[in-house]
Amino acid sequence: MFDDYEGFKKNILSLTGIDLNSYKERQMKRRIDTLANKLGFKDYDSYYKDLKMNADHRKQFMNYLTINVSEFYRNPGQWNTLRDDIIPNLLKSGNGELKIWSAACSTGDEPYTIVMMLKEHFPKVRFSLTATDLDDLVIAFAKEGNYSQKSVAGLPKEYLNKYFTKNSDGTYQISKEVISKVNFKQHNLLSDRYDMNYDLIVCRNVLIYFTEEAKLDIFKRYYQSLRPEGYLFIGSTEQIIQAKEIGYELQHSFFYKKKS
Ligand SMILES: C[S@@+](CC[C@H](N)C(=O)[O-])C[C@H]1O[C@@H](n2cnc3c(N)ncnc32)[C@H](O)[C@@H]1O
Repeated sequence: MFDDYEGFKKNILSLTGIDLNSYKERQMKRRIDTLANKLGFKDYDSYYKDLKMNADHRKQFMNYLTINVSEFYRNPGQWNTLRDDIIPNLLKSGNGELKIWSAACSTGDEPYTIVMMLKEHFPKVRFSLTATDLDDLVIAFAKEGNYSQKSVAGLPKEYLNKYFTKNSDGTYQISKEVISKVNFKQHNLLSDRYDMNYDLIVCRNVLIYFTEEAKLDIFKRYYQSLRPEGYLFIGSTEQIIQAKEIGYELQHSFFYKKKS
């Protein structure tokens, strides 16, 4: 066990802009200690000095602490609810166009799932889709659009056949047309500004890593960013305990509507 995690957190905040205080401490500290140990550091001080000097180690640190697991069409039932109920509701209550944010999008599996769903089931609907993540390595990966068999295993076959090409090494390349529909940006949910007037915000499987306080703050900020009757779509192990107080209405499991 390393000492002076408090000092390390302060140093990391000034070096990277990431406030480790907002992440669940035990889990995060364990991950950082494991990585520092693996690299042969005996204390936080020497690890921090190395991070300041070594850009590759800095990238590795960011990438390691931001758990990037994702896959296409993760939890199919929820995507079906989005398609059959939430999007039709949004089209009824809105201006016919959809403004969507996929927050903490990791390797792009989630925003690309949205694009394919809209193209297949709502071909006439115009939409803009911004996808953001803290980690610029996953954003670079997403823009390349080359995926393993495992990432695409849950996708309906018609999506796979229509929007991907299988490479000779067994990976799948998503079409340029789908890539072009997503505007990827680096963005820190804890410190950067949120855009306004979204119809739909999708933020799944990231808030589980944050403290209750940080989570509540983000749920409130999402509320401000949604238009009236817009929806927040969260992960399958998540819930908003203070939903009513903030002004959300639970419409389906994992879909919260901003009351008008
Ligand atoms: C487990 S992935 C979730 C990916 C996708 N939403 C899904 O459910 O399949 C968590 C993502 O959250 C990102 N992340 C962690 N802290 C963040 C922060 N402060 N701001 C924005 N993204 C963050 C990580 O880089 C990682 O890509």
